[in-house]
Formats: sequence, structure tokens, C-alpha cells
Amino acid sequence: MFYIGIDLGTSAVKLLMMDGEGNIVNIVSREYPLYFPHPGWAEQKPEDWYEQTVLGIKELIQDVDKSQVAGISFGGQMHGLVILDAEDRVIRPAILWNDGRTGEETDYLNEVIGRDKLSAYTANIAFAGFTAPKILWVKNKEPENFARISKIMLPKDYIAYKLTGVHCTDVSDASGMLLFDVKNRQWSEEMCRICGIHTSQLAKCYESYETVGTILPGVAEELGISPSVKVAAGAGDNAAAAVGTGTVGDNQCNISLGTSGTVFISSRKFGVDKFNALHSFAHADGSYHLMGCMLSAASCNKWWMDDILATKDYGTEQAAIKTLGENPVFFLPYLMGERSPHNDPAARAVFLGMSMDTTRADMTQAVLEGVAFALRDSVEVARSLGIELTRTKICGGGAKSPLWKKIIANVLNLKVDVLENEEGPSMGGAILAAVACGAYGSVEEAAGKIVKVVETVEPEDALVAKYRERYRQFKEIYPACRQLFRKNGAV
Ligand code: XUL
Repeated sequence: MFYIGIDLGTSAVKLLMMDGEGNIVNIVSREYPLYFPHPGWAEQKPEDWYEQTVLGIKELIQDVDKSQVAGISFGGQMHGLVILDAEDRVIRPAILWNDGRTGEETDYLNEVIGRDKLSAYTANIAFAGFTAPKILWVKNKEPENFARISKIMLPKDYIAYKLTGVHCTDVSDASGMLLFDVKNRQWSEEMCRICGIHTSQLAKCYESYETVGTILPGVAEELGISPSVKVAAGAGDNAAAAVGTGTVGDNQCNISLGTSGTVFISSRKFGVDKFNALHSFAHADGSYHLMGCMLSAASCNKWWMDDILATKDYGTEQAAIKTLGENPVFFLPYLMGERSPHNDPAARAVFLGMSMDTTRADMTQAVLEGVAFALRDSVEVARSLGIELTRTKICGGGAKSPLWKKIIANVLNLKVDVLENEEGPSMGGAILAAVACGAYGSVEEAAGKIVKVVETVEPEDALVAKYRERYRQFKEIYPACRQLFRKNGAV
């Protein structure tokens, strides 16, 4: 049998098909536009997601016996606001996870409603990218759209709805809405009241590995698959990536180097830290996790390579980097503002420390190092909570670079386990589909059997010490710039 994982990302939808043993049969990727209607805002059209997903599924399965497709599930970009009217038509473009327009609404939730209340109701405080501040933004700025809302959905749930006709979501993605009581895995009536909505406008919430329905007959015919193909709820892309990298059970760590950069720590027990510095979310394996999220990670390198240096040859640029731990140039990677740990939509990127002998390679290196330093901010919070981290898995586009993995291992002082494939969320989606179809007894069992470590990048003591000093300097840059970012008032 075949299981399909759909990773509805920000730059593209990535689709993966695996067999029952977890062998990858095919991978397909299809891009769609990303709109920046205003500096610091980010939108996409749900119709584009669905169109490319359907084309992607067709391409993915074109050379196999389609009757063997048994299940489909998802990893999806989190927090995005998709609103539908009473006829299930999309009301406005989706407002994405890295959109910083909700500064006022975020401040209202944190300062007026209060962090303590938010944390008691949802285990989290408000961050500009979360869904609840976006709902308040639509309520305040687009009241005519707000009045038409019949259903509020997350990005991947729109695809599940189009495939099955079921309004559904899952516990991991629901956790990032700030409308979900994470500890008890149910919607928070209080938060809905605060946002002026009703729980009936939200989708039914499932565990990630539960079946929500089967393919609508018309869609099944279009795709050439059976209408009995099961669709499982799936997960937010980080929880799905964690499943796809075997980051399940207790105290396992995964770093995702995608458009965003995340540090994901699985936990069997629910927990919240005093300052809500890390997100406390439900996990796709039935338990919980803590997560720090930076808004621009591999996207910093993509921006620097594609847009500024105008090259696609990342390998050649990185080959010019010879010495680690001594780069006098720093890069603050906040191209879209920053979530963890600063919660500051107005923050922006900065290069610091160039002189007449600074080279192109120094600046490329600063970009890679700046992302690693920013990830370390989240790792440091976890360590300050007494969480012992010695190793991590890694996935996402940035994980293809051996140099970046070495920098991360040494900046974070973590052993980095490299997997047979770095297809985190789409692999996780396929695993969730396989569990929903009964091919495995649990997510933990499936991940344990399917995910394989092929290499470990070890940190080196001397380099770790050099980077400790560089990180100390990096940490001084944001506080020194914060007021300037405010004055610039970018968002
Ligand atoms: C997580 C987050 C990002 C997106 C990226 O909180 O906002 O990682 O899920 O797709």
C-alpha cells in the first residue's frame, strides 16, 4: 500500500509517497505565489494551495498502481488564518504565520487581557503570527469580512476540507491558534469569547493520526484514486517534521531549517515555562512539545544567495568559507521581524562588523552563523528550564548543507543526527496516514521503525568555546538596535 504526505509549505507544497515499510516511492514539489502586500505582511491564496496540491498528487502517483494508494495526511504551515463564508467560499487571502501586521492586537491580548490569563486558558501568550490576533485584526480592520465568517481554518485544514468535505483540524496545529486549551486538548470557550467568535466557527479537532474522512467521490475520480482512501488530520509542519525525524516520546529534539527555523522538544508531559518563552503545544504522537520559532532561517540564506548575490550555486559560495568561529561579521536574521525570543514584529535584519577587508564569503558565513545563533536563543531557554539537550535531529532545506550542520553542531554544542532523508513534514504526514490506516499501532512505533540515522556531526570542544564567545557578542546586537527598529516603524 502507498501513503501520501502533503507538506503545505510557504514556498511550495511538497508531496511524498512511501510504501508500508517507509521506503520513499516518489517526491514532488510545486510552487505557488507568496504575496507581501505591505512590508512585514505575508499572504497566500488558499485556492493556489489546493490547485497545486491536486496537480502535485496527480504527478506523484502517475507511475504507480493508483488502487494501492491507501491514505493521505499532512504537515502544514501553522497559524495561517483561512476564513470561509456560509457557502464555504474563501473570504480573503490567508494571513500567514510570518505576517507581522497584528502588533496592536498582540499587545492588546498580552497587556489588556493579560499574559497570565492567556497562559491559563491556552498554555501560551500572544505572538504576532498566531491566529487569534489575526482574527482580532480582521474584526478591527475588515469588519465586513469578519461579519461573513462562517468557518475559521488553518492552511492544511483547507486542503483536507476540499478533499473530504469535512471541517477538521488537529491538536498540534490548533495549539498555535491561541484558541486551544492545549493541556486538555479542546477549544477554549474563553478565548473564543475574547476574539468575538463562537466555537461552532472552528473545525472539529482530531488527534493527528485520526481519520477525518474519505475522499469525496468527484475528487477521487479526478485524481484516479479510490473514494475509500482515508484522510488523516495531520499536523502542523513542525509536529509533522518531528514525526518524520523520529522526534517522538520524551525529550527528543529536532531542528527544522526551513523558511522558519524551529527548535522542537518532545515531551510526554504537559509543561509551560514561567515566561511562556517557548510555545507549549500538543504533539502529533498524542503527547506534548515545547518549541522556539524564528521567522527567517533558511530563507535568510535564500534571500542572500538568490536576491542579493544573484546566484543559485550555494555550494560554491559555501566552499569559500574556510575558518569557523572567528568571523568578525555578524548578521541579525530578522528579515520578517522575530518571534522567539523577542516577539518583535518591528525587528529587522542587520549586518554588523564589516571592514575594508571583509569578503563575500565572510558575509555568507555571517548569515549561516546568525541563524545558528538565533536558534541557540531557543536552546538556551530550554536549557534554563532544566531540559538536558545533548543531541538533535535536523531537517528542512538548510539541512542539505554539511557546513551549516557543522556550524549548528558547534554553536549549539549539540550532536546533530543526520537522517537518511531530510524530508521532515511530508515524511511525517505519510507516517500519520500509515498509522491512520492501521499499518502501525502508534506514531511512536511507526517513527521508530521508519526513521534511520546515517551520520552524526559531533561538536568540537575548541570550536564550541570560540562560538560561545561569538554568541555572547551576538546577544548584544538586538537590544542595541531595538529602539531603532521601533523608530523605523516598519510594520
Ligand atoms: C511555527 C511557525 C512556522 C511555520 C512554518 O510556530 O510559525 O514554523 O509553521 O511553516
